[in-house]
Amino acid sequence: MEQITNYPQIQANRIPKHVAIIMDGNGRWAKKQGLMRIFGHRRGVDAVRGAIEFAAEVGIEYVTMYAFSTENWNRPAIEVNALMQLLVDSVEKELPALMKNGIRLKTLGNIAELPGNCAAQLKKAEEKTKDNEKTTLVLALSYSGRWDIIEAMKKIGNNIKEGKIQPNEVDDSVVSAALNTAQYPDPDLLIRTSGEQRISNFLLWEIAYSEVYFTDVLWPDFTKNHFLDAILDYQSRERRFGKTTEQITK
Ligand code: FPP
Repeated sequence: MEQITNYPQIQANRIPKHVAIIMDGNGRWAKKQGLMRIFGHRRGVDAVRGAIEFAAEVGIEYVTMYAFSTENWNRPAIEVNALMQLLVDSVEKELPALMKNGIRLKTLGNIAELPGNCAAQLKKAEEKTKDNEKTTLVLALSYSGRWDIIEAMKKIGNNIKEGKIQPNEVDDSVVSAALNTAQYPDPDLLIRTSGEQRISNFLLWEIAYSEVYFTDVLWPDFTKNHFLDAILDYQSRERRFGKTTEQITK
């Protein structure tokens, strides 16, 4: 069996290509320590760093993280502003580490809705890291699965109107290609922390066949070892994509 240096338990030939993560529990983590919510988000950034390092170490090609949902705009302005500032500061601060570890940064979502300095910082980091090849970190920001599906429907509708495609030609691949995630493979594994067992409008189309892993660990406490547990759990599962065991083991 092929091995990964630091993690001999992992089967190197069955690494998920794309892992999506719903980072939940920052607020509860802060509350437990008697701190304001933003301190939980700050510690959350440390957990993001660890998770990305782990992904690069074990060869996960894509990691998509739910950093700010469309619905998160409804949080108190003080928290929204603090999160946006944290994002700007973190992207700037982590840029050297992204370069060192071969991480390409991409964004997913309605970036035009973000404050100007935030969008500009992200654009700069995307540009700087665009040739990095080890792992792609996709930050979902002002994103929701339904938003992207609606955007895709508008594109397809326009293409139908312009006669570029017939309605009966719309199939899985046409919809996938119209989504803002078209350039990424569908996630093999979706992780959600903090004990909540919901999808919360994340990558709705793309997770049709993803394995889902829920853990009670709050996001700021999520370490490389927790990520390892999720990967080992994933590797113990049989993915059938609607087929029978006999068909896939033949
Ligand atoms: C969920 O916890 C977390 C978020 C909505 C934000 C996640 C953002 C970060 C970890 C920082 C982003 C920065 C980078 C660089 C990616 P919650 O606030 O919903 O926690 P709760 O459910 O306990 O209230």
